[in-house]
Amino acid sequence: MTAANLTARRAGPLKGVVRAPGDKSISHRALILGALATGVTEIEGLLEGDDVKRTAAAMAAFGAKIERLGEGKWRVEGAGGFSEPADVVDCGNAGTGVRLIMGAAAGFDMAATFTGDNSLRGRPMNRVLKPLGQMGATWICRQGGRLPLTLKGGGLKHIAYRLPEPSAQVKSAVLLAGLHAEGGVEVIEPEATRDHTERMLHGFGATIEVREEGAGRHIVLPPGQKLRGTRIHVPGDPSSAAFPLVAALVTPGSEVTVQGMLLNPLRIGLLETLGDMGADISVTNVREEGGETVADVTARHSELEGVEVPAERAPSMIDEYPILAVAAAFASGKTVMRGIGEMRVKESDRIALMAAGLAACGIGVEEEPETLTVIGAKRGNHLVHGGAGVTTHGDHRIAMSHLVLGLAAEEPVGVDEPGMIATSFPGFVQMMRGLGAEIEG
Ligand code: S3P
Repeated sequence: MTAANLTARRAGPLKGVVRAPGDKSISHRALILGALATGVTEIEGLLEGDDVKRTAAAMAAFGAKIERLGEGKWRVEGAGGFSEPADVVDCGNAGTGVRLIMGAAAGFDMAATFTGDNSLRGRPMNRVLKPLGQMGATWICRQGGRLPLTLKGGGLKHIAYRLPEPSAQVKSAVLLAGLHAEGGVEVIEPEATRDHTERMLHGFGATIEVREEGAGRHIVLPPGQKLRGTRIHVPGDPSSAAFPLVAALVTPGSEVTVQGMLLNPLRIGLLETLGDMGADISVTNVREEGGETVADVTARHSELEGVEVPAERAPSMIDEYPILAVAAAFASGKTVMRGIGEMRVKESDRIALMAAGLAACGIGVEEEPETLTVIGAKRGNHLVHGGAGVTTHGDHRIAMSHLVLGLAAEEPVGVDEPGMIATSFPGFVQMMRGLGAEIEG
């Protein structure tokens, strides 16, 4: 999925009101739970990015009837369970897709083979296979728990699983497997991660108990669950909204509003951090939609100051560190991001690629195993230089982050493999151009 490079250059201020695309995490879950349920699920605002389309195709392969009724409007008719797919299930670039689907598939007595693109085939699946194995699933895979992988499910038993890493994907995979485990399942998370699976399971009629106890959050799914189709309105993705919002913060004279953005408390770490940095951000029209809080968020150009981002905040903004690093480049002083080792096992090693990209753009960076430090370029008249062609390793967020950097740097910034942006934010370039950005290619 490569195309000619894209280049962003400095132009006038960014102005306008936009809607973020549907939340990627919620979109995957809506399709998967819809397919596991009995009856019809109608989804509005589904993210039509490549990752989610792969999950839709996978759900059809596992026996659900999937129909696209219009833009973002999808109908899923679940068969009340999965049946064996006739071919290999290719999840493309989507870690969330493959890990959640493997969890769901493990509940059924069948074999399914999973693969993905270059990036996904390099990512660790052991974190999901370990608990699924404890429940009774078996598999054969490439060394190091890599895809392609054939999973054999069915006959699962109860476990109480304490997450060794703060991962909503692993938590969700275990919960989805637990739907069909004898005795149900319990997941204990030492640090809270996004809770869309828990909320949505409840919305589909499951009984799920969440209690804070001691140093952890216990999520208990009792046995005998029956999911029934429902209606889902997918809110705007804060991880995508982050790009136009930060672009406005760093581009002089800008004011951008993103409407209908998800404000789940476990997803707002970036907003908190930007607030700490002195960003002029206002949140209006706060409302409840389909069990989640959403609001309109406006960002205006701001003089930012570097901060220490608390390590405990990492799970609530894990996908937003690349764009935070860009905001930090335009700040005065140092921004230190600790406890972000999980960034190294995303679509790329995001600590390494952000450090390399920012350094190529003339910004001071320090990289440690679990920490990224950005030395803000804003000292007196000193500005962010830019002027680099950045290698993204096919990572959508690395590409969008550097394009935002190019919008406010002295010299243009180019990125390779821009086609990958469509995995999470197919309309990114068009939206940014609509706000006044100069992006060519
Ligand atoms: C996601 C969880 C996070 C995040 C990913 C989406 C999810 O991954 O990085 O983009 O939808 O559950 P981890 O669970 O591996 O931290």
